[in-house]
Amino acid sequence: MNKKRDNLIAGNWKMNGSLKQNSSLITDIKRTEGLDKGISELLVCPPDPYLSQARSLLSDVNIHLGAQNVSKEVNSGAFTGEVSAKMLQDLDCSYCIIGHSERRAYHNESDDIITEKFFRLLENKITPILCVGESLEAREFGNYDDFVLSQLERVSNKIGIDKFLNTVIAYEPIWAIGTGVSASSEQAQEMHLLLRSFFSDSIIADSIRIIYGGSVKPSNSKELFSMPDIDGALIGGASLNSKDFLNIYKSSF
Ligand code: 13P
Repeated sequence: MNKKRDNLIAGNWKMNGSLKQNSSLITDIKRTEGLDKGISELLVCPPDPYLSQARSLLSDVNIHLGAQNVSKEVNSGAFTGEVSAKMLQDLDCSYCIIGHSERRAYHNESDDIITEKFFRLLENKITPILCVGESLEAREFGNYDDFVLSQLERVSNKIGIDKFLNTVIAYEPIWAIGTGVSASSEQAQEMHLLLRSFFSDSIIADSIRIIYGGSVKPSNSKELFSMPDIDGALIGGASLNSKDFLNIYKSSF
């Protein structure tokens, strides 16, 4: 595959796992061929209580660690239940997912909150993976491009376009998450191109990685990755199965 950007293959474990399950999943993932060649980047995002366990298990291998969420608050303080970007940095997290549709829907996360989180991550040298994606209604109504672009715009208006350099955007249509129905590679490519075109600065447009999420499986990943503007995947369900996750990884190079 001849792309300008290295693919990022990211597992979002969501609220799944246990000490025992994580240990066997990571042990299996570590056996992946080609990891040492760094052909595509591999990333796992366990729930916060397991970040430390995952960090130790990954210490001798080229697999990145990421978090699924971060507090919008700075560093430390009286914010019960929150985890700061500084703490994630302490654990050597290289990435953090923000703006996932599940957090927008179940935790009322607004674009303003997501923007604050974006800032906190940059301050702590953690790469944000900013999720955007339209609802089924918007897809069916036909205004899905406006829906997604305005999500991106509401963050970029506050943060400034230049802050997106070397960050990651995940295009995750809500109707494709956990449904078994992925966007077709053409539908996804159309949206990734739209998102990339948003960045008029060519350095940012060429370097920003735009990954796809929503029912990615070994049976559809190769075709998705063959698209010029799809730079990897954010994988939910299939990332909990080492064989599926690794087959998706292998289909990315
Ligand atoms: P599924 O791969 O289970 O559809 O989940 C996608 C997702 O939400 C990743 O963040």
